[in-house]
This record gives sequence, structure tokens and C-alpha cells, in this order.
Amino acid sequence: MDRRSILLGTGAMLAGSTISTFAATTPPASYDDAVKLVWRPLDRSGGLREIVRAGTLGANSHNTQPWRFTVSTGLITIRPDFDRRCPAVDPDDHHLFATLGCAVENMVQAATALGFRTEVMVDSANQERVTVAIEQGQPSSNELANAINKRQCTRAEYDGRTISAEDLNKIGTAGTVDGVECLLVTERHRMDAILDYVVQGNTAQMRDQAFMSELIAWIRFNDGMAIEHLDGLSARSSGNPSLPAWIARRLLPLVMTEKGENDKYAKHIRSSAGIAVFVAASNDRAGWLAAGRAYQRFALQATALDIRQAFLNQPVEVPSLRPQIATYLGIGKRRPNLVIRFGRGPTLPPSLRRPVDAVTDHI
Ligand SMILES: Cc1cc2nc3c(=O)[nH]c(=O)nc-3n(C[C@H](O)[C@H](O)[C@H](O)COP(=O)(O)O)c2cc1C
Repeated sequence: MDRRSILLGTGAMLAGSTISTFAATTPPASYDDAVKLVWRPLDRSGGLREIVRAGTLGANSHNTQPWRFTVSTGLITIRPDFDRRCPAVDPDDHHLFATLGCAVENMVQAATALGFRTEVMVDSANQERVTVAIEQGQPSSNELANAINKRQCTRAEYDGRTISAEDLNKIGTAGTVDGVECLLVTERHRMDAILDYVVQGNTAQMRDQAFMSELIAWIRFNDGMAIEHLDGLSARSSGNPSLPAWIARRLLPLVMTEKGENDKYAKHIRSSAGIAVFVAASNDRAGWLAAGRAYQRFALQATALDIRQAFLNQPVEVPSLRPQIATYLGIGKRRPNLVIRFGRGPTLPPSLRRPVDAVTDHI
């Protein structure tokens, strides 16, 4: 990109925007109101604020939203918010950087639709910050951008239908970018083998007190909690009933059992059309970011085709299983980054997000 032509004045555009967000003192009246505001379509005249908002709609681990955006003239920078890291499930911050990659991909797609050209740069020192340089271009209709406010991780049973070769090709191609390989597994016996790793991983995680405590800390047991925090795993988006927190905490050990969860994952995989595994070229932050970007593109393309998808990362989260599934998949010494199931089926209520102003520093 020619730096002289970087758009001037868009930082001011963001600062001066009047697009409504949640004011700190006026939380939305209901979960449905919050969903409407969070997942509203992109405002074509929204400038950099809308590009940041698109970033916040990316998939992100445990819905921790571990990001800080900085907006200046013609540039948006995204960096980790380490206060929101999850040391039990993600000790090396792999998921945190994959999450930033998801946000970056959404920003790039939104920018294109809003009439900007982008260039993405990962800082070379410690690969901690990603800068998206933005310059004025022509708006172009973009089915991936149109899917940004419809994409969700759907943790429901799917309907067992297969996906056509044409659609498989489209989602696989969307997920094959930046040196990331997107392996699509659709043969039943291979899906069953991956289910076996998911069950082993889930069993290990449910026996790990630190993992369970961290997970429970991010569960929002009812609509009130979800609206108050605007982050975390809301009961609704996980397909669970909204309950008073004190009741839900007591019920959890009774309803969330190893066997119950493992049976649920078996139903989830057996009702899916396939499993996608993302494998980046390098096992470092740049590679993890690239895996997140590739996954997000895949998910946007799937959404555009009315295909649902959800993560099943247990086999890549439990360190002892990672080399085992890598060997099974035949990917040599490369790290398997993300595991996703996909298929046709119903949607669930979406998760919530904190507003742009809560996650953005203006320069
Ligand atoms: C790197 C990464 C890892 C994730 N791992 C899991 C997972 O193992 N299981 C799961 O159910 N969801 C997982 N998710 C999905 C998030 O929980 C989900 O994106 C978040 O709750 C926001 O919901 P949404 O994507 O539907 O908007 C992961 C997401 C990312 C980006």
C-alpha cells in the first residue's frame, strides 16, 4: 500500500460517529434487545467504527473478547487484552491469538464491503499487534461481509444431511488462506476416530479442576448476567435454559456430567456433515493468527451457504492428544490448530458482545 494515500481523517470519523452503542448506564432491557443491537447489519456509512464493530463480531474463545483496538488515521491496530486470557484452557495463548485472527478477518471483509482497501501487517518484534492499514477504495458487494452479522457457533445437534461437493469446495477454499491448510473430513469412520479424541479430551478437561473453574467463571447462567457482562458463554447461546445463578451453580454438577457431555458430543458429531481441521504453516503467534483468519473466512462462507459450524477443540487443547491427532491426520510435525464440525440445522440465539467504545482507544 502507498502510505501517502492512506486515508486521512477516518480516525476523526470514528470519534465523531453518532452510531448508537450501549451507554454504560443504560443496559439493554432484554437479551433480545441486546442481540438486535449487537448483531445489526453493517452500517455502510459507518467508517472505521463499523470496521472495529465487525471485528468484535468475530468468534472468540469462551467469548472473552480478549482484544483492544486502537484507531488512528487510516489505521486500526488490534492487540491482546491479556487480562482476559484463559490460562487453564489456553496456557500459551494460542486461542487468544487465533481469536485476534478471527477479528482481523472480519475487519478486512467489512472494510471491503464499506469501500476500503486494506493491508494487514503483523508486528515483527513479538507478533503481538496486528495493524490493518485502510485506504479509500470502491465498495464491493461481498457475500462474506454480508455474513458477518449472521455467523454464529451453533452448539446444537444438526440434521445429519450431507453437504454437496460444490459447497464443500467453497468452504474448504475459503478456509485455505495465508498458508493455512483446511482439512475436511467427511468419511464417517474418520469422523468417529476424531470423536474418540474429542471424548478423551473432554474427559481429561472435566477431571481438571482448573479447567472447570475457568469455564464456569465465563458461563453467564441467565439473561440478566449476560446483559450485565456482555461477554461470556450465555445459557441461551449454548441452548440451555436461563436460570438464577445460585440454582444453576448447584445443578451444574448434576446436569453437566462426563458421560452426559461425551454423549452430547457424539450426537453433535454424528449429526454433522463433516469436520474441518485448520493447520497453520508455523507454530507461532503469526501462525495462530493466520489459523484464526482462515477459520473465520470458512465460517463466513459456511454462513453464506446456510451451513452451521461449531468448535470441538478438546483434541488440540489437551497437550497429550495434540500429537496423536496430528499423526492420525497425517500432518507430520505441524500443530493442529482448530477443530470444527459443520452441517445443516437450526440456529441458536446469538451470543453478546461488549460495545466498540468499551474495547477501543482513540488516538
Ligand atoms: C480460538 C477459539 C477457540 C474456541 N474453542 C471452542 C471450543 O472448544 N468449544 C466451543 O464450544 N466453542 C469454542 N469457541 C467458540 C466460542 O466460544 C464462540 O466464538 C464465542 O462464544 C462467541 O460466540 P459466537 O462465535 O457464536 O459469536 C472457540 C472460538 C475460538 C475463536
